[in-house]
Amino acid sequence: MTDAPTIVIKGGRVVDPDGSRDADVVIEDGRIAAVGADLSADRTLDAAGCIVAPGLVDLHSHLREPGKEEAETVETGARGAALGGYTAILAMPNTTPAIDSAAVVRQVLELGRDAICDVFSSGAITVDRAGEQLAPMAEMAALGVRIFTDDGTGVQDNRLMRRAMEYAAGLGVTLAQHCEDDALCGGGHMHEGEWSARLGIAGQPAEAEELMVMRDIALARLTGCSIHFQHMSTARSVAMIRDAIAGGLPVTAEATPHHFTLTHADCRGYDPVFKVNPPLRTDADVAAVRAGLADGAIAAIATDHAPHAPETKELPFDQAPPGMLGLETALALALTELDLPIEQVLALLSWQPARIMGVDDLHGSLAEGRAANVCVIDPEATWTVDGEAMASRSRNTPYQGREVRGRVRHTVLHGEPVVVDTEPQR
Ligand code: DOR
Repeated sequence: MTDAPTIVIKGGRVVDPDGSRDADVVIEDGRIAAVGADLSADRTLDAAGCIVAPGLVDLHSHLREPGKEEAETVETGARGAALGGYTAILAMPNTTPAIDSAAVVRQVLELGRDAICDVFSSGAITVDRAGEQLAPMAEMAALGVRIFTDDGTGVQDNRLMRRAMEYAAGLGVTLAQHCEDDALCGGGHMHEGEWSARLGIAGQPAEAEELMVMRDIALARLTGCSIHFQHMSTARSVAMIRDAIAGGLPVTAEATPHHFTLTHADCRGYDPVFKVNPPLRTDADVAAVRAGLADGAIAAIATDHAPHAPETKELPFDQAPPGMLGLETALALALTELDLPIEQVLALLSWQPARIMGVDDLHGSLAEGRAANVCVIDPEATWTVDGEAMASRSRNTPYQGREVRGRVRHTVLHGEPVVVDTEPQR
């Protein structure tokens, strides 16, 4: 026991993997001490009219450190995450240097130690994410890395991917794939279709994603390795994943808010804020991604939070880097745009990704005795997205000016209120 004040989150509706009930939540020594009626403590966080949920968990955050601190740092990314209701985020490895060794994993974890959101590190599958030589996954796994990915690119070589999956299966870790066949995508900057033709921008066909999904499902069958498909964007990808899961393969998938809210038609003004990989697709693809989130083919909403410094996003469409901000808007977009019960939205944003990430011992539950990682959401509050007001060092939100519903009011990290009434506490 410490003498830290006890906290009660009072008057809300608790929603977690155990169901929904009106209850107060008491936090003591960084843990959930009690969930029940009429509880009290030294300090009260008001949750009247609010949902009290386990903190959100993001499988896909580009934090840019080391190497591109002008776009984001671990600290600013984690700050945006906490404001967005997250208590855990997974740093992607496409930094400079890449997160492809124990030394860089240690550096990222160290940078995240005092952040206001738990920062976990992924590790690269191949050295420097170059797709040629396996990275030392065992030494990274020894530091707690549970997800390996070359995100930013996919592993192109079939034989190397098979080896990686055999190695990963032996280590008991998950490989996550950015599915994109480089040769088919070569020179493309948006989805190949009606809009790329109209705009005169070279396209990336849906098949570039689907071929790699197909290959990795086959390799999961061959090796038994669990594979997680990142930012799924096409109807046929979703269908293949649904079939693979039904067939008992160890397959999971995520989708981003932008792939269920925006389409290639949004690129019509040549604004690079809509440039992203995989690209924004068709209405039918958006509908299929939404259907996949609804029926469980896609188990997680992940942000692919990809900050880019303003001067780079002001370049012409074909020269600007792909990627968009996500951490501060994901929850509201899901609540506003997905026609799903809030329990299901929170499963997609919290406890299901926590399981995929292997952090469900610390995140994704409000059961008594568990770590107190909590977010309190006002589901009816409306607000207007404004990149200028975000914690990120970058401003590249494609939702600027959009009215959304659902606001994070408080975030509690290991018992410490790090966001109170929408304000960061340190
Ligand atoms: O649009 C994207 N941006 N897709 C990726 O896979 C990488 C990301 C980035 O790092 O900017």
